[in-house]
Amino acid sequence: PGPEPYTVPLPVPPVLSPAAGRYEITQREASAEILPGTRTRLWTYNGTFPGPTIESRRGRTVRVVHRNELPVPTAVHLHGGRTPADSDGYPTDLNLPADWPREHHGAGHAMADPRAVTSRVTREYVFPNDQRATMLWYHDHRMDFTAPAIWRGLAGLHIVRDDVEDALDLPGGERELPLLLCDRSFDADGALRYPALDPALRDRPGVRGPYAAGVLGDVILVNGAPWPVHEADAARYRLRLLNGSNARHYDLEVVTDDGRRLDLVQVGSDQGLLAGPVTHTRLPIAPAERYDVVVDFGGLKPGTRVRLRNRLGSGRTREVLAFRIARQAKDASRIPRRLATDLPVWRRSQATAVREFAFRAGHMQHGRGWLIGGRAFDPGRTDVSTRLGAVEVWRFVADVHHPIHLHLVGFRVLSRGGGPPLPQDAGLKDTVSLRPGESAEIITRFDGYRGRYLFHCHNAEHEDMGMMANLEIT
Ligand code: C2O
Ligand code: CU
Repeated sequence: PGPEPYTVPLPVPPVLSPAAGRYEITQREASAEILPGTRTRLWTYNGTFPGPTIESRRGRTVRVVHRNELPVPTAVHLHGGRTPADSDGYPTDLNLPADWPREHHGAGHAMADPRAVTSRVTREYVFPNDQRATMLWYHDHRMDFTAPAIWRGLAGLHIVRDDVEDALDLPGGERELPLLLCDRSFDADGALRYPALDPALRDRPGVRGPYAAGVLGDVILVNGAPWPVHEADAARYRLRLLNGSNARHYDLEVVTDDGRRLDLVQVGSDQGLLAGPVTHTRLPIAPAERYDVVVDFGGLKPGTRVRLRNRLGSGRTREVLAFRIARQAKDASRIPRRLATDLPVWRRSQATAVREFAFRAGHMQHGRGWLIGGRAFDPGRTDVSTRLGAVEVWRFVADVHHPIHLHLVGFRVLSRGGGPPLPQDAGLKDTVSLRPGESAEIITRFDGYRGRYLFHCHNAEHEDMGMMANLEIT
């Protein structure tokens, strides 16, 4: 199913306004016309998918009151946020629906620490936003059930801005587009299709058999619309890309219909501006990664169509988003040669620990799963304990593709496969995409807050099937 690509206009998620200094989000079921002519039941933040965008300023605390009217518990995590532990959406720190029976807490496997479950229909999450300007995203993070919850629609954007970024003349206003890319599958009647949405499987964590590597959809959505098209000026555009897919990887390229290839000029990474722009002709983006890129449509004739395509897809999954150049236009934007001067630099010699983690398939309680250092996630166990302020080097090794994410901190990629990082590893990251068989080293300082955080694979199915670990900052 799904429309002819590039017939549906690109939506931009609504920006949420605070009421009396607080943002309010109701998590509720809603239906939307995603595929023209059909309705799709979704789990949403405030009735839309993606949820409303929160726009905030560096250092200005944002309070978001979430009310859970869904039929299941939820946990809200602000991905990439420098957030106190009690607002970080720990997977058993739940926002329970009003009628959730207490004995249900153990649904799914290994709710090892029932004391960790807190019960609130409404709760306030506090985000100090004491961090560099960048695009974050919020999504569900409930233990064992993150992947189907995100698939059903529980994801939204949160953009932090600051004076450093404002002082640059990057494209803005209508020419700055947040783009949440994801894939989904649908039944002919418009219902979302996901292996564990089958009622018989609903309380079972993870997915089995051919899906265990991660669930892929055959319809590509951008901001919730299938293969949309956007009318653009012949000018520079700033594209704030997020791969919000559960498991799909993209290798993006921008091409005109007459075969011209346009550069993707990267100005920022997961955690904000780079020191200087990095030019790509193609850009791989793994689940949960963000890239801030400028693409220049200047000089293209009105009527030209430009496509953002995924070189890793086939047939319709190669198509992502099109721009139709509608008009010539003035363009006062520019890409300065120097962007940010506040990127942290940590040296190996500062590291007080070097740790190594293998991300591999293995056996867990309920059959095959995905393990870190040979172990499946257990909320009752501390996997890494470190002191606030410590600088550490972490080395990851992977069997298959694993996008590895650390909560709370941004990090620099030090090396890949024993060699230098890739061009797209520049800047400050919170998710590093390990390719099959690859190793990588990262360095960071564990500062911000004390408490219990996580690191995990952001293939959402891998995450639900054990590939997550606890990071205790003391
Ligand atoms: Cu996108 Cu644990 O996060
Ligand atoms: Cu993984």
